[in-house]
Amino acid sequence: MERVVVVTGANSGVGLALCERLLAEDAGLRLCLACRNVQRAEAARLALLTSHRHAQVDLLRLDVGSVRSVLTAAREVKARYAKIDYLYLNAGIMPNPQVDTKAFFKGLFSRNLINMFATGQGLLTQQDNLNSDGLQEVFATNLFGHFLLIQELEPLLCQAGRTSSVVWTSSSNAQRSAFSVDDIQHLHGTEPYSSSKYASDLLSLALNTHRNRQGLFSSVICPGLVMTKLTYGILPSFFWTLIMPIMWFLRIFTHTFTLTPYNGAGALHWLFLQRPESLDPKAKYQSLTSGLGTNYTKPRQMDIDSETSEILYVKLLDLEKEVRRKMSEEKADMDTVA
Ligand SMILES: NC(=O)c1ccc[n+]([C@@H]2O[C@H](COP(=O)([O-])OP(=O)(O)OC[C@H]3O[C@@H](n4cnc5c(N)ncnc54)[C@H](OP(=O)(O)O)[C@@H]3O)[C@@H](O)[C@H]2O)c1
Repeated sequence: MERVVVVTGANSGVGLALCERLLAEDAGLRLCLACRNVQRAEAARLALLTSHRHAQVDLLRLDVGSVRSVLTAAREVKARYAKIDYLYLNAGIMPNPQVDTKAFFKGLFSRNLINMFATGQGLLTQQDNLNSDGLQEVFATNLFGHFLLIQELEPLLCQAGRTSSVVWTSSSNAQRSAFSVDDIQHLHGTEPYSSSKYASDLLSLALNTHRNRQGLFSSVICPGLVMTKLTYGILPSFFWTLIMPIMWFLRIFTHTFTLTPYNGAGALHWLFLQRPESLDPKAKYQSLTSGLGTNYTKPRQMDIDSETSEILYVKLLDLEKEVRRKMSEEKADMDTVA
């Protein structure tokens, strides 16, 4: 039976490269590109069909940062497919990134140079906004929308006698110091991206605790530092071009500079080839590329604990209830007006 794979944020960067790799691996799978920008999604679909003429590539309109869009898209997925084998939660944003130039130049001439480039720790801040659902945008996009999607798709993910995989594209920028259980949306900080990625690491652990019995297994990857729309939003492309020779050189010492979306998607592809039950729920699977350009995947233990993961999980369930209540109230109001 054909395998069904859904990829969020599949129209560019790591997500699109993953789709290429999956089709090269298994031309018979049913691939669903879940994207908010329909034009870019259609262009991605055409590009995939150019190299895999007979592939089954579907499009799904999904703005993962909007509750209404997630619920509508989930309904559509349930109407189209009887099951999901892999759900790649890859869409992500880092809005209005600011680089702390003082910290950057200090780091440039320090022993922390490689770690600074590899994780962006202490270097990157962002300005977040409230979205139309009244949620912090980065939290809603990188975490909550995906959580809601899993909840909605439970009947397709949790079926007797089979397993399914949920895979989060996290980051090495996911830092415990940026996250607080008292502020899961990161209203009061300046590192919403780091906070949301750390929260995805925690949530993955909680999903394994609560859903393994139902056949759902969750994993986390880090694509490494990849040149994509997201990185070009941090610093202009000419800057990256300028420092590229340094990056190639540093790759001899750290294999986390994967640089191309193809290399960045390595761990996502690798997970597709594993039995989900065999994976370590506390590991982050890293896409790595050696100085000679060899692409490989290696697990690293995450700095997470079950207690914090459980607290976050309960808070997300509460928020889900609240959001659903608000939606049904809005619907009731509209029905009354009509
Ligand atoms: N690049 C890196 O070095 C790096 C490092 C660590 C982690 N990551 C993670 O890797 C993932 C992929 O990013 P990328 O580097 O490949 O950057 P990218 O090329 O900008 O891809 C991000 C994708 O997410 C989609 N997206 C954003 N907001 C969305 C929303 N509300 N609903 C649906 N889709 C949405 C984008 O679609 P649109 O075309 O509609 O914007 C795009 O397809 C992200 O989760 C990112 O955090 C990247």
